[in-house]
Amino acid sequence: MIVVREIGALRENVHERRSVDRQKVAFVPTMGNLHAGHLALVRTARELAPITIVSIYVNPLQFGANEDLDSYPRTLQEDLTELEALDTDIVFVPDDATMYPRGLADQTKVEVPILSSILCGEHRPGHFVGVATIVNRLFNLVQPDVALFGKKDYQQLTIIRRMASDLGMPLEVVGVDTIREPDGLAMSSRNRYLTAKQRAIAPGLYGTLRETKDDLEIRHTDATTAEADGCQKLKDRGFSPDYFSVRTRDALTHPGTGDRSLVVLAAARLGKARLIDNIKVDLD
Ligand code: PAF
Repeated sequence: MIVVREIGALRENVHERRSVDRQKVAFVPTMGNLHAGHLALVRTARELAPITIVSIYVNPLQFGANEDLDSYPRTLQEDLTELEALDTDIVFVPDDATMYPRGLADQTKVEVPILSSILCGEHRPGHFVGVATIVNRLFNLVQPDVALFGKKDYQQLTIIRRMASDLGMPLEVVGVDTIREPDGLAMSSRNRYLTAKQRAIAPGLYGTLRETKDDLEIRHTDATTAEADGCQKLKDRGFSPDYFSVRTRDALTHPGTGDRSLVVLAAARLGKARLIDNIKVDLD
């Protein structure tokens, strides 16, 4: 495994490996503090292409002024040990000067309209411009054939797919299933912000999503009622919900009567942690 910090070294190494039989590159962008969810992305990457590249970069552009940029967990040595064990080929660990040489304000930005301003975008203004901008820059530097993202960040995955399609990027965007703790809580670096008491409440987010899935699929509850019920349940369980919303799976619009492939998305705060999760719903 090679660890590179500079763009020149990244390009040289990718080029060198690629030139052997024009091998395919699978890319997993991360912010580090790797957990089982990230490792599932890397394992899937290894199945999809002979060359696996992982980036570790806590992207300041996607954090709001009052968010957790400074306290976001940074565990580089442990992360590298995990990646080595999975036979990762190249790990790209840039710093801010490498990713934003002109600073954040002067950086050319990528905006996927509408999708970036709803749901999490409404509660975290600028977040998805930060994500799309860094992912676009990383794609240009790595030039992967396949890029992998977790389905836990469903809106992020949808936005990146749209960006890749709108900008004609020659790569495939693959979503990988969420990895959960045994009690259902989706793995996330932010789970470590939970106190013991909040940790006991946290699986209630996925529990509520599962109940809403049953309400929609089995009891044929309408979307508006399901949203209000889900939101109330989260409050009763001790969460402060940002949103609880039933959407179409591809465009994340409010469903009409003919829409059968849906997703329920939720974001809720528990103390210092803001948790997000989602569940697929099939009405047929
Ligand atoms: O999902 C993440 O960890 C980040 O949003 C990403 C895709 C690595 C961009 O910084």
